[in-house]
Amino acid sequence: MNAIKKSDNYIQNNTEKASVYEITSDRYRTDLSMKTEKRNGIFAGFKELLDTYMYHDPAATGPVSIIVNYPGIHAIFSHRISHFLYNRGMRFLPRFISQLSRFFTGIEIHPGAQIGKRLFIDHGMGVVIGETAEIGNDVVMFHQVTLGGTGKEKGKRHPTVHDGAVIAAGAKVLGAITLGHDSKVGANAVVLKNVPPEATVVGIPAKVVRIGGKKVD
Ligand SMILES: CC(C)(COP(=O)(O)OP(=O)(O)OC[C@H]1O[C@@H](n2cnc3c(N)ncnc32)[C@H](O)[C@@H]1OP(=O)(O)O)[C@@H](O)C(=O)NCCC(=O)NCCS
Repeated sequence: MNAIKKSDNYIQNNTEKASVYEITSDRYRTDLSMKTEKRNGIFAGFKELLDTYMYHDPAATGPVSIIVNYPGIHAIFSHRISHFLYNRGMRFLPRFISQLSRFFTGIEIHPGAQIGKRLFIDHGMGVVIGETAEIGNDVVMFHQVTLGGTGKEKGKRHPTVHDGAVIAAGAKVLGAITLGHDSKVGANAVVLKNVPPEATVVGIPAKVVRIGGKKVD
């Protein structure tokens, strides 16, 4: 009873629940981003991440449960540390932290990957994010997502994902391509070309089927 009360208060005091598909709404942007814009640094974004998980996951009961039970949070927090060290020229220790995090969470994020604010990784197992991947703010991804290289490129060889993109379970996004803001990648799609903003792409190879919610033939 107490726990329910606590979690209800937490939601009311912080954010209301929303489906992951509502992330383009103004409510989401103001709820989560405005509150925390001024926070920076390794630990500063932690409260913001808690809000994000509370907001997206209907099953989340409160901050303690999220801190203990959500591998996405653990992986992102580990990444903040490994990325901090990577940016200071260290190579072995950040990689070791990243592999340790993979062991516990099933999520592999290269220390060099650049990740924006409020990334929501649901379930997480099997997620791989490559060294030169860049992820904007308010991105959502599910388990088994790969942001990888094609094996043919050097230098920048992983995707750039713009704000508000949703990448569904099992999708593979390959190469130095761009997912436009608020785009959606369908489950198990293999994306090899740039995706326009607000587009939905599905299939192998992925094709645009919606732009701004309107059907594309
Ligand atoms: C991509 C997705 C987010 C829907 O986006 P949307 O913009 O609302 O698109 P729609 O649902 O209107 O689907 C657009 C079209 O693509 C098709 N489609 C949707 N997802 C597809 C997929 N993964 N593979 C192939 N086709 C797909 C739909 O049937 C529809 O076809 P139609 O135009 O012939 O009717 C959703 O389909 C999806 O893949 N969700 C999975 C989320 C997930 O990973 N859940 C795991 C939770 S554990």
